[in-house]
Amino acid sequence: MCGIFAYLGDKKTAGKLVVEGLKKLEYRGYDSFGIAEKLPNKFQIIKKVGKISDFDPNKAKLASTNLAIGHTRWATHGGVTKLNAHPHLSSNGKIAVVHNGIVENHDALRKALQKKGVKFISQTDTEVIPNLIAAELEKNDFPTAVRKAAKKIKGRYSFVALKHDEETLVAARNGSPLIVGVEKFYPKNDGERHGKADGSAFFIASDVPAFLAYTSDVSYLDDEQMVVITRSPLGDHFHGRFFNLNTGEAVPKRIVSIELAAGKAEKGSFEHFMLKEIFEQKETIAKALNQDEKQLKLVAQMIKKAYGSFFIGCGTAGKVCAAAEYLFASIAKKHINVIFGSEFDTQEAFLTPKTLLVAVSQSGETADVLEAYKIAKKKKVKTVGVVNVAGSSIARSSDVILPVNAGVEKAVASTKATTAQLAILTLLAYTVAGKLEEGKRVLAEAASQINDFLNPRYSAHLKTIAEKIKNVESMYVIGKGADFPMALEAAIKLQEVSYIHAEGFAAGELKHGPLALIEKNTPLIAFVPAERFRHDVLSNVAEVKARGGMIIGVSPKNDALFDEWIRVPNVDTAQPIVNIIPIQLLAYHLAVLRKNNPDLPRNLAKSVTVK
Ligand code: AGP
Ligand code: GLU
Repeated sequence: MCGIFAYLGDKKTAGKLVVEGLKKLEYRGYDSFGIAEKLPNKFQIIKKVGKISDFDPNKAKLASTNLAIGHTRWATHGGVTKLNAHPHLSSNGKIAVVHNGIVENHDALRKALQKKGVKFISQTDTEVIPNLIAAELEKNDFPTAVRKAAKKIKGRYSFVALKHDEETLVAARNGSPLIVGVEKFYPKNDGERHGKADGSAFFIASDVPAFLAYTSDVSYLDDEQMVVITRSPLGDHFHGRFFNLNTGEAVPKRIVSIELAAGKAEKGSFEHFMLKEIFEQKETIAKALNQDEKQLKLVAQMIKKAYGSFFIGCGTAGKVCAAAEYLFASIAKKHINVIFGSEFDTQEAFLTPKTLLVAVSQSGETADVLEAYKIAKKKKVKTVGVVNVAGSSIARSSDVILPVNAGVEKAVASTKATTAQLAILTLLAYTVAGKLEEGKRVLAEAASQINDFLNPRYSAHLKTIAEKIKNVESMYVIGKGADFPMALEAAIKLQEVSYIHAEGFAAGELKHGPLALIEKNTPLIAFVPAERFRHDVLSNVAEVKARGGMIIGVSPKNDALFDEWIRVPNVDTAQPIVNIIPIQLLAYHLAVLRKNNPDLPRNLAKSVTVK
């Protein structure tokens, strides 16, 4: 997690550019932030605990410099303190580093450095990196020192380093994302063949939208690669040179122009990104359906031919996969295996070149999924990525991609990407069944129904329900079939933004234990189908009602058991998609009523790039 931003270019406002870039990366981590501006022969460091969005660069004494790095932190090692905030300096003050990831062997490295007299002042794993580089500098130039230091680090990471007396940026990647943006790129230099890029300025960031206001010409740093950015010998522009982190050899690099619209990542008239993104579902389902049919049929063929398909994802994406298991069973009469990314390594015994791995991920950077890819590649397993962020690590390492097309999702809690992923996997199940046209019809109808019901009046109704339950200690969600994983997803949504204890269950499981948790007025959200299984789920609801529970029914039809009725359209196999939307709204209103920031929930980060 964490956001990294660095600038070297022709503008003297590097510090301010870094602060502005970090603000766009805040969703990646918001425990603390800091910047290092390079002055002649030293750094100016600014560090603060808290969110960078609250920091006004105009009120800070920023230096006049064209070179700076910055970081917004999601702590993994060492508490949330100013001292632990990045950038971290080497004990001799010569090297400054911002880091994303974990140095797994930090203890051993720290001890070895301490023996050489290095003094550590923070509790972070990161602080070993600038000190390793400083130690290597005794015998090497700066880029080589970075490369040699990087080779000593175990774990998934990316970092950017500065030296106190060089106009040079060096960044290395092994597992966590880093993207290089080139302003006024000079294509005549043929970056592809020579691994070179020339431009008036370079940006390095954990995610593209951070520098999209300045350039859309980017180069993706791959794992085990580094980039060195310096002033050109002519002095009028800057060079980017890419190298293999292991061998030091230059690597060919392509500079690509990406199409993301910078404005799309802004809140517009909405108070929060989460609400804006919930409302965007009026269009995103239809966009998700806009798949290249050849690709869809190719993936369907791969699933049919595979000797076992594994659908993997983490958190919400994992719940989408779990819903797909039910959808594939009912629509395509096909069994798929579903497992969380972090659990995939337990299945190694079943992996052969005939296995298929389908990874679902909004960010495309989730470490647990990338670790699964490593194992899959080793076993020659084919991979399909259902990914929202184009150019992300998962997108780039998949054999086939089904793009989610939901646009930038900024709020930490996933909403529009979730339903778009569900729509694609539903369509895929229809394709496997040889019923693509029917699938398109069902989902297009659902998309149009969502466009109708998702309006301010609907949101206001959810707010009145939120008012009634905002002070409860616990709530529960139940569903049957594909609505069971949606109950789990509903619980995640409620937990992450309202901070109320929430749990999801298969409807029929309540009576086997969790029923003991029901007290007078405990809210129970029930996904109650219109037809098949309605009777079963209502029986489970009645058991809760009999014990004083407050019943919130999410259903196309009302029922006397419901204390509150949340109406949803009746949309056949697209029901899980429409059912989750009101709970996203309920979670949002609960967060706001409880004075939580729904966009940046405590302890979380949007992109989980550590194991
Ligand atoms: C979603 O609301 C959560 N913040 C989280 O569970 C998320 O879905 C998970 O970390 C996976 O992320 P990904 O889709 O980017 O891989
Ligand atoms: N491990 C580092 C720390 O705890 C970096 C974490 C991150 O990726 O934000 O500071």
